[in-house]
Amino acid sequence: QIYQASVTAPVNIAVIKYWGKRCTKLNLPTNSSLSVALSQENLRTLTTASCSEQFDKDILWLNGSEENVASNSRLIICIENLRLLRSRVEKENPGSQTLSKMNLHIVSENNFPTAAGLASSAAGFAALVYAIANLYKLPQSEIQLSRIARQGSGSACRSLFGGYTSWEMGNNDDGSDSQAQQVATKSHWPDMKAAILIISAAKKGVSSTSGMQATVATSTLFTYRAQHIVPIRMQEMKKAIAARDFQSFAELTIKDSNQFHAVCLDTMPPIFYLNDTSRYIIRLAEELNRVAGKYVAAYTFDAGPNAVLYYLSENTQLVLGLFRECYRKAKGWSSDARPCVPEGFNLGLIKNVGTGVCQVILTEVGDGPKETDES
Ligand code: DP6
Repeated sequence: QIYQASVTAPVNIAVIKYWGKRCTKLNLPTNSSLSVALSQENLRTLTTASCSEQFDKDILWLNGSEENVASNSRLIICIENLRLLRSRVEKENPGSQTLSKMNLHIVSENNFPTAAGLASSAAGFAALVYAIANLYKLPQSEIQLSRIARQGSGSACRSLFGGYTSWEMGNNDDGSDSQAQQVATKSHWPDMKAAILIISAAKKGVSSTSGMQATVATSTLFTYRAQHIVPIRMQEMKKAIAARDFQSFAELTIKDSNQFHAVCLDTMPPIFYLNDTSRYIIRLAEELNRVAGKYVAAYTFDAGPNAVLYYLSENTQLVLGLFRECYRKAKGWSSDARPCVPEGFNLGLIKNVGTGVCQVILTEVGDGPKETDES
């Protein structure tokens, strides 16, 4: 007999960034963070976990190819935690199936090209933990499961929820209070949209894990950020979301992305995640906000060159129109056709983006992990 459960989990993009660990073994962060889950229609991981007495070892297939489970310590930690919880269920319910003693076969697939360079580890570990928890019929809440997903990849703890989610850093050395919790559902702020501008499909140069370690060891700016800036921003961001205040949301998002990249630059040797196209996009968004006299587009960048823009649905034409013009320009529109940008916009900026953006994914805020019949 084979026991099986399938789930999907969303990608999340932080607006207050996690960067730095105080414990690498347990993935305990040096600051809290806050993110937005994106719609699973565009981006999600689908994971099926099954177990059986007939399986002779744990196997994970990631996008069709077999992973070496034995060498993936993060994966092993997650599976061990979940098996321990299952064995408790079995002890309390004599006669229940001893699933905790069986090997697991896990099949995990993204509905977006892994080559797109998007952080997929968050959705991946969240889906894995949620799938096994469902397979084992564990009584633990999403908050409790987030502590396990965190040990797979820090940002994964935030993919256990839809909408807006904070990861509260906690104080305990054993990580028992370092967990994610939902700040608001997606329906709280239905007008919020997101666009992902894919600039490079290349794998990032410095992985988040090693980049963070280098930052913790060498950046003084980082220490100041973690201790004095992020705690205030977390409070302000929660307030902005509660009040659906896009002006504050955008300002905080932009400042925090830029500060995260400043901290990377303050690392020795410095880490560069943004490229020329990323910086042109920043200038375009800044110019759009300047001309509009308010924030219409909030940009943020993770550990790579791709941009994520948050904007309100009422400004969709304004935001996307601008990037469409960049594309048309790159493809060589005739010089007399005036691009469709707002009055007063510095046209010189448009030509610089060129063909740097290779794909645009239009999406919105999404739900948390779900059970599914797909497999
Ligand atoms: C820049 O969660 O990928 O995206 O805990 O080492 O797996 P590990 O790191 P990871 O780091 C994400 C960093 C970030 C910011 C964020 O998502 O908050």
